[in-house]
Amino acid sequence: MRFIKLSLPILLLLFLTAGALPRVTDRPPDPRVEKLLARMTLDEKIGQMSLFTTDWGSTGPTIREGYKNDIRKGACGALFNSHTVAFTRELQRIAVEEARLKIPLLFGYDVIHGYKTIFPIPLGESCSWDLAAMEQSAHIAATEAAAAGLHWTYAPMVDIARDPRWGRVMEGAGEDTYLGCRIAEARVRGIQGKGPGNTDAMIACVKHYAGYGAPIGGRDYNTVDMSERFFREYYLPPYQAAVKAGAMTVMTAFNDYDGVPASGNKHLLTDILRKEWGFNGFVVTDYTSINEMVNHGVVANDKEAGELAVNAGVDMDMQGAVYQRFLAQSVKEGKVKMATIDASVRRILQLKFDMGLFDNPYKFCDETREKEVILSKAHRDAARDVARKSIVLLKNDRNVLPLSKDRKIAVVGPLADTKNDLIGAWSGAGSGDDCVNLLEGLSNAGIRPVAVAKGCAVEGDDKAGFSDAIQAANQADVVLVVVGESAWMSGEASSRAELNLPGVQEDLVRALVATGKPVVVVLMNGRPLTIPWLAANATAIVETWWLGTEAGNAIADVLTGVYNPSGKLTMSFPRSVGQVPIFYNERSTGRPFDPNSKWTSKYIDMPNAPLYPFGYGLSYTTFSYGDPSLNKSTFKKGESLQITVNVTNTGNRDGEEIVQLYVRDLVGSVTRPVKELKGFRKVFLAKGATTAVSFTLTDKDLSFYNKNMRFGSEPGEYDIMVGGNSQDLKKIKAIMR
Ligand code: BGC
Repeated sequence: MRFIKLSLPILLLLFLTAGALPRVTDRPPDPRVEKLLARMTLDEKIGQMSLFTTDWGSTGPTIREGYKNDIRKGACGALFNSHTVAFTRELQRIAVEEARLKIPLLFGYDVIHGYKTIFPIPLGESCSWDLAAMEQSAHIAATEAAAAGLHWTYAPMVDIARDPRWGRVMEGAGEDTYLGCRIAEARVRGIQGKGPGNTDAMIACVKHYAGYGAPIGGRDYNTVDMSERFFREYYLPPYQAAVKAGAMTVMTAFNDYDGVPASGNKHLLTDILRKEWGFNGFVVTDYTSINEMVNHGVVANDKEAGELAVNAGVDMDMQGAVYQRFLAQSVKEGKVKMATIDASVRRILQLKFDMGLFDNPYKFCDETREKEVILSKAHRDAARDVARKSIVLLKNDRNVLPLSKDRKIAVVGPLADTKNDLIGAWSGAGSGDDCVNLLEGLSNAGIRPVAVAKGCAVEGDDKAGFSDAIQAANQADVVLVVVGESAWMSGEASSRAELNLPGVQEDLVRALVATGKPVVVVLMNGRPLTIPWLAANATAIVETWWLGTEAGNAIADVLTGVYNPSGKLTMSFPRSVGQVPIFYNERSTGRPFDPNSKWTSKYIDMPNAPLYPFGYGLSYTTFSYGDPSLNKSTFKKGESLQITVNVTNTGNRDGEEIVQLYVRDLVGSVTRPVKELKGFRKVFLAKGATTAVSFTLTDKDLSFYNKNMRFGSEPGEYDIMVGGNSQDLKKIKAIMR
């Protein structure tokens, strides 16, 4: 109480002098923060705004004097890539025992799809369309990481991506904005759990704000340019959804938008993020992205880059040391206001106070918890569950799958025994040694192959192993061939110009198909691939992405039918790189595609349609859809509309179906997409059962940025479409008056 009385006048003064500057919104100043801020030197304030990586070698951490000294001097407020209780405890000790103000450090790490127990890559996991499962996997990842001394994860990555050449599509939730928003919310909820300071949760960092998923040509780090209408309609909503779900930090993107790099973009960081969306956490850059503004050519040197960043709204500099080296000088020269620095430091300190780190800086350092929690049976079970839900069955001719146990099976291909690849890119502290590979998974399921052969490597042109592979096939009734990419081929800085199976893998599959045996292709990869020959000639295709620690068991569950596959694609699979970018929700052209007319929007050498569309995926059973019905065919602007459809399991097995709702606004003040996902439900249906699935469309669902850039709905005619993928849909009309 005494403390509050003393500090109120100071608070008032600070409040008034802050004027129109960005500051923590919707929250009265915290006396603990203000008291500490008042004691800090400018260098110590800048220290809180500086984040550095630690050196984690292949065998463990090395504590370098350089950043130890930074911690001692108060020149660094947060570190990343340092994990495990032992390591973080030692670093925290230096901060709270040796530095003047004893401000605890914040420890960050890329816990993208698991810490030690690795879940499917996020793109794969998004194909489960199972929000509860994704929330749970994010929560388990956070629980494990928090048990290893970590506080803050650079996730979720919510960048919408329509170009599979971009290697980082593996990290997101695919091409669709509506689904991307729901998944962003689920992941934030999972990561942050019951809130800051809970030792089974972390602080989320939504990234990469904004538009990083749309680099021109699919080339990582390339520039981004599009209309603001497009940007706001398709690319921004998932970041906003994550912020609304409570994400406490945001990471800037490497790219520019409309000519201004994201890390110096006031329009994005202050006008939209803080003023429009009311974000009151802190903003961190991506790795050295302040420095990179010199290369972007919008500033002449690092010092100017720092000024541009901080004045645009960047609170924390990741690894660039720009703030550390130049910000004090910029303040002295009047190029940066002290109030701007204070606003940033307030946000950072507030989070540390909210997490309770000042009361107990070691609250995340508990060796017993670390031992018990990491890679626990419960976590592995959850990983297996979501992994099998992420698998997408692309083809299954003559019901070759599920495999019956009396058939002789040959297992061929370079990825059948891989362990290291299974954890995919951005795999935290995960290790291939903890993974169950496919051969082990099959063996756990009681399947003993009659022959195993590698055939070839993922890359290269060596076909010497083909004859062994063919021999193996000849001994079997069914051939499983496991092909795809190596894990390093997707992720950061892993854009590809070709999207085919690398090396001679497709030739291997061709050779196996030529034996006349049924060939089941098991794909492992981090992005949609161009596989038209496989689609036409393989007997079955199972897309398994990189499924993580329990990959082999999960794939075996699907191959043997213990689990009936239910995943559906969240990114279109092109037939050829020439179709890229490719996505289902394109806008209507003035010359819509007509197969019988040359003068329409089409290719002369290939269909417009993808090989496998968004929302597509098969099951071992079949589903049929009745005609959708509406609670009213005419509705008033502002009213909501109810759509109901009967879905029946028409096959011979129980199964799950992802029922999808799409909408088309037929006449708008601006061109509108030919269809847009506006709802989905995952339903379980016993064989022969029918269920009525209902959706409610609200006015917001029908809203968009109109001719005057106002967000709202427009009266007129709508097509309402329901079905099991974005192409096979049943339609009904509705009119908004
Ligand atoms: C990536 C970020 C990541 C950061 C820290 C960057 O290269 O773009 O997504 O969080 O490194 O590891």
